[in-house]
Amino acid sequence: MMDRVSLNENLSISRLVYGMWRLCDDNDKSYQRVIQKLETCLENDLTTIDQADIYGDGGSEELFGEALSKSHNLRKRLEIITKCNIKLQGADFPDRKVKSYDTSAKYIIGTVESSLLKMKTDYIDLLLLHRPDPLMDHNETGFTLDKLVDSGKVRAVGASNFKPWDWNLLQSAMKHRLATNQIEISVVCTDAFTNGDLAFHQKQGNPVMAWSPLGGGSLFNQNDPKSKRLLITISDIAETLGVDMSVVALSWLVLHPARIVPVIGTNNPERIIEACKSIDLKLNRELWFEIYSAAIGKEVP
Ligand SMILES: NC(=O)c1ccc[n+]([C@@H]2O[C@H](COP(=O)([O-])OP(=O)(O)OC[C@H]3O[C@@H](n4cnc5c(N)ncnc54)[C@H](OP(=O)(O)O)[C@@H]3O)[C@@H](O)[C@H]2O)c1
Repeated sequence: MMDRVSLNENLSISRLVYGMWRLCDDNDKSYQRVIQKLETCLENDLTTIDQADIYGDGGSEELFGEALSKSHNLRKRLEIITKCNIKLQGADFPDRKVKSYDTSAKYIIGTVESSLLKMKTDYIDLLLLHRPDPLMDHNETGFTLDKLVDSGKVRAVGASNFKPWDWNLLQSAMKHRLATNQIEISVVCTDAFTNGDLAFHQKQGNPVMAWSPLGGGSLFNQNDPKSKRLLITISDIAETLGVDMSVVALSWLVLHPARIVPVIGTNNPERIIEACKSIDLKLNRELWFEIYSAAIGKEVP
């Protein structure tokens, strides 16, 4: 049984989360294929799905919703995370002159209603503000998020790509606790280990979600000299331990005491199964530093 991470007294998520940013990039865009991926997740105790209103220009929530509506017992076996506040430009929005963020009450509530409709569900387990908005009125945004939780449409709220000061500002205007921050962390993006982001959340006691935990696939790019060194280190360790490289790269995140929850993004069911093995692999401290040294390109000082 895969470990779970508690977000509040009523809600927990699986230790590994499945992200749907790339759902519409799969060659097979049928709802049957989505159900296949979801069932693969569930068979491996991965129960939490990460979405956003903008993934696939809205098509990802829609395709996911189609899968949920065709397989009636799926929704209640899953926790759904979605995000809001990025306003994309495009043919659907001819009036938008620039890409922007919007954390106003009207915009957040409108997006939540639209996400609920697209995903054909009547509640979202966890709503995240996708990016810090320089024009955020923390009182208005905080009140709106609290109201959404009180209404039952959203079971918990959190943030993504927030710095500690963004987090503190928003939290200061809220009754409910922000549950988690979803940021970029991987062997190819190690800033959070030293820039205070992980330390801040570790002290607060809230788990941190890691997006692109395999560097969005760049870890496997043999042409990049930095990745090449990392790749050799990770592939040697993987071979010694008899596991896939992705298992090593993910377990490297999971070992951290801040309770990092990786959000994987593969469209390949076989790779989902492999990734789930990372939760049980416990790297030792020396292996962790061997990978860290390869990741930063030098031994630690
Ligand atoms: N909050 C934010 O701002 C934010 C930003 C970005 C992403 N996210 C979330 O994070 C999730 C994961 O992001 P991600 O998709 O970049 O994660 P990722 O797991 O780091 O990368 C997935 C990519 O790597 C490839 N890949 C995986 N294993 C591989 C292997 N063994 N060999 C070669 N290629 C491999 C996958 O290709 P295949 O499909 O062919 O396996 C896919 O293209 C997203 O779905 C989204 O939910 C959030």
